[in-house]
Amino acid sequence: MKRNLVLCLFILIKLNVFVISNESVKKPTIVISILIRNKAHTLPYFLTLFEQLEYPKNRICLWIRSDNNVDNSIEILNVWLNEQKFNYHSVNVVTDNESKSNENEESIADWTTNRFIHVINLREEALNFGRNIWADYLFMVDADVFLTNPKTLELLISKNETLVAPMLKSDGMYSNYWAGMTSEYYYERTDTYIPILNREKIGCHPVPMIHSAVLINLREKNTDFLTYNSDNLQHYNGPKDDIITFALAANASDVPLHICNDEIYGYVMIPLESQDTLERDYQQLINLKLEVLGYQAGLPLSNSMKSFVKYPKKDTMGMDCIYMINLVRRPERRARMHHCFDELGIDAETIDAVDGRSLNESILDKWGVKMMPDYADPYHKRPMKMGEIGCFLSHFLIWNKMIDNGYDKIMVLEDDVRFEPFFRHKVNFIMNEIEKLSIKWDLIYLGRKRMQIEEETLVEGSNHLVHAGYSYWTLGYILSSSGAKKLLDAKPLDTMVPVDEYLPILFDKHPRENWKQHFPKRDLVALSSAPLLIYPTHYTGENGYISDTENSTIIQSEIIVGISHGKIEL
Ligand SMILES: *[C@@H]1O[C@H](CO)[C@@H](O)[C@H](O)[C@H]1NC(C)=O
Ligand SMILES: *[C@@H]1O[C@H](CO)[C@@H](O)[C@H](O)[C@H]1NC(C)=O
Ligand SMILES: *[C@@H]1O[C@H](CO)[C@@H](O)[C@H](O)[C@H]1NC(C)=O
Ligand SMILES: *[C@@H]1O[C@H](CO)[C@@H](O)[C@H](O)[C@H]1NC(C)=O
Ligand SMILES: *[C@@H]1O[C@H](CO)[C@@H](O)[C@H](O)[C@H]1NC(C)=O
Ligand SMILES: *[C@@H]1O[C@H](CO)[C@@H](O)[C@H](O)[C@H]1NC(C)=O
Repeated sequence: MKRNLVLCLFILIKLNVFVISNESVKKPTIVISILIRNKAHTLPYFLTLFEQLEYPKNRICLWIRSDNNVDNSIEILNVWLNEQKFNYHSVNVVTDNESKSNENEESIADWTTNRFIHVINLREEALNFGRNIWADYLFMVDADVFLTNPKTLELLISKNETLVAPMLKSDGMYSNYWAGMTSEYYYERTDTYIPILNREKIGCHPVPMIHSAVLINLREKNTDFLTYNSDNLQHYNGPKDDIITFALAANASDVPLHICNDEIYGYVMIPLESQDTLERDYQQLINLKLEVLGYQAGLPLSNSMKSFVKYPKKDTMGMDCIYMINLVRRPERRARMHHCFDELGIDAETIDAVDGRSLNESILDKWGVKMMPDYADPYHKRPMKMGEIGCFLSHFLIWNKMIDNGYDKIMVLEDDVRFEPFFRHKVNFIMNEIEKLSIKWDLIYLGRKRMQIEEETLVEGSNHLVHAGYSYWTLGYILSSSGAKKLLDAKPLDTMVPVDEYLPILFDKHPRENWKQHFPKRDLVALSSAPLLIYPTHYTGENGYISDTENSTIIQSEIIVGISHGKIEL
């Protein structure tokens, strides 16, 4: 009784504090500084996500500079500003649309000393601007950072650290922190980097360098001597570099730099090497968008930004047709795949999958479907589910379509796949190899689950194709007309097993002798791309995993198989 009372009082006090904190006290003020140069490709996404940050905009002042562009960065920025600037407390924008490049620059990714000095001066100006208007915080963010977590600002402030950055993922091992710095002030590889990147160690970690998205608490006195200009540092003989100087100034001021990976905050583009062109950056952005599409509906894009995004021209990648199998009642998956196809320039035909829920015994009778008598799922020891039968029938329909249309080669994709970076290039590469080496093939797995423990042998002369061993899944494959013919000639509906058991039976790599006996001709030539080019978006058991085959009704096998036991409890 007494404890309850205490608890009750405690809750009341807590509530009271809460009300005070979100109703009567205004949020800290933030200057957000953004430098923009040749970012026409990333800006539409950057600005959309920026606009979606959940922080009162009337507590934010924008400080934006853009010059030396060879693209339409300024035009995009202006469209966005015209629509959004009134929401913010104030904006301080200077754009120069006449300048095209700094002196002596050999390419758009060339970092000359002059370019460093220019950026250093701009950052220093932003820092002093924040100090002069008494901002509580300064957030320095680059225009190729995608803050997919709308709570980023709020979360960073809640860390109570003087200097803090959200850990950002890229399409490689790159991120916006260093875990080590050499005595010459360069990047040093250390053992602490990976556990932070992979979020094996969660929290806000002190590191020698953070950059690209850094929140500075200007109310802390010890930020007064932070600087981007190495002329302000004592005993410094390292490179003229904004982020190195800043990290050293922080260390000299006894301010630790923290990188936070307690939440998923967003993504960052890998900086171009000096020989790279903007084309490399476009490709990187596509890879990144595909990566994001592996986990969520994709990077958002506000209406005013849509017209600034260019997509590649679509084709069928040298196939006669690319089919994508999707259940009509999974429209979000369909939309996600269509999004991926837009990014990849893939012209695909969507096939409405046979829905397990619409199947029943009499329909299967009509199709002439009979289960393999001794089939039981190897893990769950249960007969086939309606979802698995629907899945089989969907693939089966496509094999028939291929023959009816007289196609030579097709690609089949399921709707829950994540594409590897450079998917198109890699598919082209293996198809060229097949042609050049006159490799015999019926089916090429693009994604699968390898079930065979022993190494698979490389196809002779090839670097990226192996002879497929026992495998599960039918996420994606390329099929030749000879392959489709073999799959159909073996009359799989008469003795049905799940499609991902059927394929290994037909290429004679299935471990179950008694299953193979039902199919005397097992000469399908199955190869696999190695490494694989597609993966499932979600693995079994992971958050967000929904399986349309695992979750459907178990078929009442006694009727299909024709053994009449009366009722069987399943
Ligand atoms: C204050 O915060 C609580 C809890 O997040 C929320 O339910 C409430 O609506 C907030 N009040 C205002 C005025 O924002
Ligand atoms: C730069 O902007 C001004 C004002 O918006 C415009 O008049 C001028 O044509 C622009 N110059 C270039 C090179 O785009
Ligand atoms: C940050 O400071 C506030 C106010 O002093 C406190 O309520 C909060 O728990 C602190 N957060 C962290 C992560 O230390
Ligand atoms: C400054 O750098 C030294 C040497 O790397 C390190 O030991 C120290 O912890 C750093 N200080 C802060 C505040 O990060
Ligand atoms: C099977 O499904 C068909 C089509 O939905 C329906 O007409 C039929 O009544 C169903 N039969 C049984 C036995 O449920
Ligand atoms: C099965 O369906 C239920 C109810 O719709 C859902 O909560 C569950 O996540 C599904 N399980 C799988 C493995 O898809």
